[in-house]
Amino acid sequence: MRVLARALVLWLTERSLIRRIVQRSSPGRRFAGRFVPGDSLQDGLHAAEDLAGRGIAAMLDHLGENVESAEQAAAAADTYILALKQSRERPELDCNISVKLTQLGLDAGVDVCVDNVERVLQVAAESSPATLVMFDMEAHEYVDRTLDVYLSLRGRYPALGVCLQSCLRRTYDDARRIGGPEAIVRMTKGAYLEPPDVAFQRRSDVDRSYVQVARHLLESGSTLHLATHDERLVGGALEYLDRTGTSRERYEFQMLYGIRRDLQARLVAGGQPVRVYVPYGTQWYPYLTRRMAERPANVWFFVSNALRWRS
Ligand code: FDA
Repeated sequence: MRVLARALVLWLTERSLIRRIVQRSSPGRRFAGRFVPGDSLQDGLHAAEDLAGRGIAAMLDHLGENVESAEQAAAAADTYILALKQSRERPELDCNISVKLTQLGLDAGVDVCVDNVERVLQVAAESSPATLVMFDMEAHEYVDRTLDVYLSLRGRYPALGVCLQSCLRRTYDDARRIGGPEAIVRMTKGAYLEPPDVAFQRRSDVDRSYVQVARHLLESGSTLHLATHDERLVGGALEYLDRTGTSRERYEFQMLYGIRRDLQARLVAGGQPVRVYVPYGTQWYPYLTRRMAERPANVWFFVSNALRWRS
């Protein structure tokens, strides 16, 4: 049922008429503002400052994916370099960045992508300590290439991490391959609609896989970013981390901008490290559709607000 609702939302939001309505209407832009603080780097940095005031660290994501040319990919790398330089000018912020490899040219070729990633990593390494750069994980067709690029670079750039998705059947094996003291891994459930041959379809299986992979990563000495808003998973993780006496240097909780601020605040009040993913930029539509598909109630929220606005 959940998978069907998700598929329906994604199908609807891919229709060009709906895309135009959401992108161009005021209710659409207002709704996007709940998940994306604004179009510019300054908007992202303001959001990071606001989070810092609440004891929360930030991770900037300049929105964009599947760019069509090497020029666009190089331009995307430049935007991250600017983000690194500008956040460095604000030493009061604990701010790292997250990139999508298809935004940095993966579709144009692994070499194009690696050149761009390295330009970003070199600037990230200029600060002391180096600013962490995370790779988002995209749809399953990109997992092999993303992990290959990550493994080929992490020896030279230790402040590099990657996201894994517990919905994918392969992920436990991937965690065994990349886990270890040199690994920095963001653990998520996965935001893409994936077919049954590659991904678990039942929520209980996705959650079980999340716990299994997260435990393996911690036991192998990896640094773990627990990226979820699921209270049951967060509660289970807190109990496990406390019982095993895991140092706060080795993990943090992560959530998305605009989601479960109450849970973020509760974790901060309990002395837990929390970081929020702050997406910014004009290319917010695909990001927004994933947030809608995760929680179809968001669609009804949008539609009812749009109708209220029109009446
Ligand atoms: P789940 O979907 O079960 O939600 C638990 C609760 O959280 C819900 O009951 C609701 O209260 C709240 N919630 C969740 N989503 C919401 C929404 N959209 N709107 C309102 N409330 C919502 N995925 C990926 O494929 N690649 C990636 O690189 C990343 N990166 C990433 C970074 C960070 C910091 C986070 C937190 C998440 C990601 N994700 C991701 C997204 C992730 O895979 C997943 O789709 C979402 O986090 C939703 O799953 P939850 O674990 O929150 O659980």
